[in-house]
This record gives sequence, structure tokens and C-alpha cells, in this order.
Amino acid sequence: MPTFERIQGAVYCDGLSLAELATRFGTPLYTYDGGAIAARYREVEDAFRDYPHRLHYALKANSTLGIARLLRSLGAAADANSVGEIDVALRAGFAPAEIVFTGVGKTDAELERAIGLGLRSINAESEGEIERIDAIATARGVKARVAVRVNPDIDAKSHPHISTGLKTNKFGVAIADAREMCLRMRGRSGVQIVGLHSHVGSQITQLEPLQRAAEALVALAAELRDAGVAVEHLDIGGGLGIPYEGQRVPTAAEYAASVLPIVRESGLNLILEPGRFLVGQAGMLVTRVVDIKPQAGGKLFVIVDAGMTELMRPMLYGAYHRIEHALAVDRPAAICDIVGPVCETTDTLGKDRSLPRPEVADLLVVFDAGAYGAVMASNYNRRPMPAEVLVKDGEATVIRRRQTFDDLIALES
Ligand SMILES: Cc1ncc(COP(=O)(O)O)c(C=O)c1O
Repeated sequence: MPTFERIQGAVYCDGLSLAELATRFGTPLYTYDGGAIAARYREVEDAFRDYPHRLHYALKANSTLGIARLLRSLGAAADANSVGEIDVALRAGFAPAEIVFTGVGKTDAELERAIGLGLRSINAESEGEIERIDAIATARGVKARVAVRVNPDIDAKSHPHISTGLKTNKFGVAIADAREMCLRMRGRSGVQIVGLHSHVGSQITQLEPLQRAAEALVALAAELRDAGVAVEHLDIGGGLGIPYEGQRVPTAAEYAASVLPIVRESGLNLILEPGRFLVGQAGMLVTRVVDIKPQAGGKLFVIVDAGMTELMRPMLYGAYHRIEHALAVDRPAAICDIVGPVCETTDTLGKDRSLPRPEVADLLVVFDAGAYGAVMASNYNRRPMPAEVLVKDGEATVIRRRQTFDDLIALES
């Protein structure tokens, strides 16, 4: 995927030098390659083209309006995880019938909104949630379209913090209880069970857990059909991983080849909810070196102007991101801990990295930062949220301006 190239040693995104973008827009700066997102989207579409399906882009990965709009323009539908994400989807132009709404702990207010909009489906996480949907929809005189999120008790073999499909995880209705629960719910006046859903984790790099989850949904759909409950769709969630450390990961074609033979026998429409796979590798975080401090043993602390407030993944679940100089630098290598300015020891973007010895004012690029990056940014230490730039057809557009102190304090009295 052509997310970036080096020209005479400098990192370029679709013909624009990241160093020039940093001068123009400041740092820390998120830069996204729109062409790379489009290429990825087409890759997944192509892989599934011979089976009735729809890609519902998981907004949680990156819901900046410009990214949501880009995905919509490519033909995606949306997967929202909160009313805030539903509102982003609507603002980006997605129709309610193109939105599925997932999430543990949906409040009554959120359900009211979702039911009122008439979404493609509310992916319900428990019997209690379906009861509440039924009560709200019945009071409104409508039938809500509900898919049951099933917890298939499958180990996604990903990081424990981003695994969601084990029975010890808080997500979904236990597979053993799902059939009986659907049968109990079928007579409800406010609910129509239209689908079955599962999402067993994120950054999954082996296909077997995704296959087993699809098998579980297909088997449950058949049992329900035999018992008189016919669903319209199977939603197999997202989860496909990307090669943060250069490891071999499944391609979209391999993913399709492994799940389609399983799903095909059901004849049901397929929903996919990819997030990271579509946008992860298309994002780069550009950061400037603020200070250098020697450590005992010859290592360096390279203190940069981005940290856990801009990119939380390394601190949240020990995630690895490649970090390199943005420009050609001809200096001897040094072993570096690349750390942010936030007042927390965990504020380390990369440990023990060998880089041409960095100097103050150098620019570094943190790669593969397009998913679960900017969306998790915070104002901790009263740091303003970074700017985000989308590069498309050789042009850079600010899709989120850098937060000012006035923005940051605006809600306070
Ligand atoms: C229900 C659901 N769908 C889709 C996704 C997107 O996952 P990914 O970005 O790994 O494709 C997630 C993320 O955890 C999720 O919880």
C-alpha cells in the first residue's frame, strides 16, 4: 500500500514532504494518505465482491469528519459505537439505514435516539438491552431492528486488552444462551431480530479465530431458522490486523477466502466492520525533537513534542510503532528511548530504538498511526489536541485544526 515513500531520504506522502507539512501546519501533526485509504477500501471490497456484503467502516478507529467523509465517498457504510459516532456519521452524510450501532452500556437516551433514527441495526449486547429497546420502541409504536451480539468464547490471540470474544470479556450474549434468548424475544412488539453479530478482537493476525467466530454465527443462524426466527444478516465485525512490526498478516483476499466458504452456506447478507485495516497504515504522526538527554550506559532520551496525549497505543497496550527520521540524516546510530513531554513515566513512544543520532529540532515520523491514534488524544497536562491533515491527489487539507487554549478552556467557568 503506497502510504509513503522516501525521496532522497525524506519521507513523502503522496508527493508532499512531511517536513514541509510540519513547517506549514506545525507539530505534532497527524498526516493521512487518502489514496492509501482508498486503495485499502477497494482491496477489501474486491475480496468480498462475489458475495452480498457491505463494509461498515468502524468509526472508532478514526472518526475525524474528513476521514468519515472519505470512507463514505468510497462507498462504505458506518459502524458507530456511541451517539457521538452516530452524529459524526450523519454529519458525514451516511443515511441512518447505513449505520449499525454497537457498544456495551448503551443508555436509554442513546437507544431513544437510535430507535428514532431507524438504523440498519442496533447490535444489542444483552437481554436487558433488548428489553429496554423493546420498551422504548413499543412506546413509540415502532419495531427496532436489532442484531444480537454473540460472545462466541473464542480467543482472538491478540493483545488481552483488545480481545473481546472470550466469555470472560464484557461483550455480547454468551453463545450458549443466545438461541433461547432470541426465542424469548421473538414475540416482542418493539423488536425485530434482523441479524447476528460478533467481534472477537482487534489487531488479529491469524485467521482461525475469525473463521471460528463466523462458523458460530452461521450455526446459530441455522438453529434459529429451524426454530422459526429468520435473520437477514450476519455481521462478523472487524479485527483484521496490520503489520506494525513488519510481521506477516493476512491480506483481505485471504480473509475473504477463509470466511466466505463458511458464510456462503447461510445465504445471508454479510456485514463487515473493518477499522484499523482501512486506515491504520495510512496515518503518520510527525513530531519534533525538543530535547536530548544522555542516559547511563550510552543510551539517549529523545524527548519529542508528541506523547501519550497524541498517541496512546504504546502506553495503553504496549503497542509498537515504527519511528524514523523524516529527513535523510547521516549520523552514527544511537540507541534511543523516544519519550513524550507528559508528566508520566509511561509516556514512551518507543524504547531501545536504533536511530541516526537525533538532535534537537529534528523531525521524527511515527508510522501506522492512522487507527486508534488521534481518536484517543486527550488534553492531559492541558495539552491541545494535534492538527490532522488529509493528503489527497497531492494536496493537503486540514481536516482538524490544532486546538487552541481558548478551545480547551471553553467549557469551564
Ligand atoms: C464492535 C466492533 N466492531 C469493529 C471494530 C473495529 O475493529 P478493527 O479496528 O480491529 O477492525 C471494533 C473495535 O474494537 C469493535 O469493537
